[in-house]
Amino acid sequence: MGDRAGMLGLLPPTDNPIRERAERHGIDLDRLPVHVAIIMDGNGRWAQMRGKPRLFGHRQGYKNLRGVLLDAADLGIKVLTVYAFSAENWRRPNDEVAGLFKLIERAARDELRVLHQNNVRVLSSGRLDEVPAGLREALAIGAETTKDNTRMVFNLAINYGGRAEIVDAVRKIAADVREGAIEPEAVTEQDIARRLYHPDLPDPDLMIRTGGDLRVSNFLLWQSAYCELHISKSLWPEFKEEAMFDAVLDYQDRTRKFGGLTRG
Ligand code: FPP
Repeated sequence: MGDRAGMLGLLPPTDNPIRERAERHGIDLDRLPVHVAIIMDGNGRWAQMRGKPRLFGHRQGYKNLRGVLLDAADLGIKVLTVYAFSAENWRRPNDEVAGLFKLIERAARDELRVLHQNNVRVLSSGRLDEVPAGLREALAIGAETTKDNTRMVFNLAINYGGRAEIVDAVRKIAADVREGAIEPEAVTEQDIARRLYHPDLPDPDLMIRTGGDLRVSNFLLWQSAYCELHISKSLWPEFKEEAMFDAVLDYQDRTRKFGGLTRG
């Protein structure tokens, strides 16, 4: 899995049942993506197909996320970033927005114990100063409690936009330029990368979008420059182990070149 995985913690035991099932599915456990990012789309459609309100779908989406997260940790994924609330989601009806924030806050509080027990470090990415104070507090408690955990990083993108993240980094650079700490012509890609929300995390290797749409939707724009995309037709509440294995297999079937000719 290389140095990047080593940096982030211990490898999981090889006798884990999900790892055996993954191998039977054809997955090479030595070539897992280190960082997986997920656009969890399709909750609304899933609910509407059942004649239920959209929030019912989001609640089911939360339940599914719980399973996927623990599966990913057991499989040996080192970083999982999920798109929980995009900067564009404010355009939804007020009750859906409020319901989503409540659900995410409840999840952050209720799941903290199990995440901590599983040695998972919780982070968040996004403009958190604009989200309800209770949610901000729950995320801060989660980050503080789990800051020394090493098995997997779980990064929640909340009020997140890829362009906004780049704007926030550029503002920091502009301030440094104003103070004379850096010359405009000396600004490099690394200067921007270092000012993103979590510069310590490796870029995603695999981005999964559920629900079938072929869009990136402003998710991790800077970090996804070379990541592999996998579109799953499953709606998020139905994205289970086999669909996850298919995504990893798809990733492993591709040769990653990073713009060059040989690196695979
Ligand atoms: C997109 O489905 C999903 C979201 C906007 C929210 C994702 C939230 C969850 C999975 C639940 C809770 C999350 C956490 C972190 C506890 P959509 O509503 O756009 O679906 P549609 O495309 O079918 O309308």
